[in-house]
Amino acid sequence: MRAAVIHEFGEPTVVRVEDVDDPLVGPDYVLIKVAAAGVNPVDWKMVAGYLQGAFPHHLPLIPGWDVSGEVVGVGPAVTHVAVGDRVSAYARKDHVQNGTFAELVAVHIRAVAKVPDDVDLVDAGALPLAGLTAAQLLDATEVAAGDTVLVHAAAGGVGSFATQLAVARGARVLGTGSTAGHDYLRGLGAEPLEYGEGLTARVEELCPGGVDVVVDLIGGDALAATPDLLAPNGRVGSIVEADTVHELGGRYVFVRPDAGMLGELLQQVGRGEVKVHIAERFGLDQAAEALAATKTGHVRGKVVLTL
Ligand SMILES: NC(=O)c1ccc[n+]([C@@H]2O[C@H](COP(=O)([O-])OP(=O)(O)OC[C@H]3O[C@@H](n4cnc5c(N)ncnc54)[C@H](OP(=O)(O)O)[C@@H]3O)[C@@H](O)[C@H]2O)c1
Repeated sequence: MRAAVIHEFGEPTVVRVEDVDDPLVGPDYVLIKVAAAGVNPVDWKMVAGYLQGAFPHHLPLIPGWDVSGEVVGVGPAVTHVAVGDRVSAYARKDHVQNGTFAELVAVHIRAVAKVPDDVDLVDAGALPLAGLTAAQLLDATEVAAGDTVLVHAAAGGVGSFATQLAVARGARVLGTGSTAGHDYLRGLGAEPLEYGEGLTARVEELCPGGVDVVVDLIGGDALAATPDLLAPNGRVGSIVEADTVHELGGRYVFVRPDAGMLGELLQQVGRGEVKVHIAERFGLDQAAEALAATKTGHVRGKVVLTL
């Protein structure tokens, strides 16, 4: 098969598209013919070698943790999906080596959800990591109907899902983003706010007394300002800075594969409650460009590889 491969850590330009062996399919694994693979900031960070302290890495490696496609093989212990099914997965593994930026990928059954007929495979490939992160963070911060939620970096991959999912739960959402993205944020259901200096005053103006929940997707000054932004007994969660959010009495979330939760998210997409906004599509041969696009830190929605 063809795959995007790195032989050394570095800038996205170290990625080469090469012929490699097809993956082996263990007993609990599903072999997926890849239709789409979402590109997330973690992918360029992995290519740069920044995740080596967290996972064993084995070079040469294929990056990519998001996938959708058609099942073309199953291991003998797999029962709930079959050859021919359309599926999607957040395919993070305990070892970093055989990722999703490839024509074929073998994924553990615990991560694999069926894609409803009315959901496009490109959307289903861009959803898993960012959608699950958003849902798990909203669960950790107990976002519910009637809450006012401030989402920092609401226009990005995770932010776009967190905003829509919080709105679907009945929350009021204030979302930060640069001015150029404010119409986009309104389209997601958020009241847009410029980030940076003066944010506390802008939040205070819209929500005197502070917000019920701060959802932090950017860290730094935004997260540090939490005590000035939260109402008494408010909650805070972050996916970026574990130590800081713990010091603030909040929750850190590191997204985990969850086939059941991904299945629910796909249903929400099918019902039109959640839209997957594709910012840019790239072919497998353009994997390096896709990683570079994500590295800018200013993607609106999701970048995706389509095969
Ligand atoms: N812990 C976990 O499990 C986990 C899971 C997923 C992601 N993450 C991490 O969480 C972060 C966000 O992920 P993502 O996929 O949402 O990233 P992303 O899609 O690259 O986010 C891009 C968005 O960030 C916005 N942004 C940039 N600087 C900002 C600022 N100072 N204040 C507010 N918004 C700002 C941009 O808006 P403008 O263009 O308008 O500036 C852009 O829309 C990344 O660092 C990622 O690695 C962690």
